[in-house]
Amino acid sequence: MKYELTKEYLTGIESIDTEHGKLFDLANECYELVMNDTSDDRFDQIVALLEELRAYAATHFAHEEEYMERIQYERRFSERYQHLRFIQKLSEINLDEIDENQQEYLLGILDFLTRWLFGHIKVMDCRIPKEEDAAAAN
Ligand SMILES: [Fe+2]
Repeated sequence: MKYELTKEYLTGIESIDTEHGKLFDLANECYELVMNDTSDDRFDQIVALLEELRAYAATHFAHEEEYMERIQYERRFSERYQHLRFIQKLSEINLDEIDENQQEYLLGILDFLTRWLFGHIKVMDCRIPKEEDAAAAN
């Protein structure tokens, strides 16, 4: 499975779309790592990647929130809440407790995360107006 940043995921705000692209890349990397069960030490790699995804998401959310604050976007608090929930969910995962047979568990985590991420971008982020449109509306 490969997730692609297709047209329906684009907000039209260049800096945000670029960062969303990187989130898609990281999520895809995680997915491929979980699916590729031939490598022995991939659990360490998965943990490292999930951590990278969490860190990058946090940086990206901060940028997005800064932007929404600047344009005084009215739904910025719902956005912030969903961002918080996402980071919380990623922080809760403790792969130390999972042994190597629990592929299904790992797939479940990734499925949840990728669905959440893409659902959020498509539904919530795509409503964020471009700065010039927000300025024109005020
Ligand atoms: Fe967002």
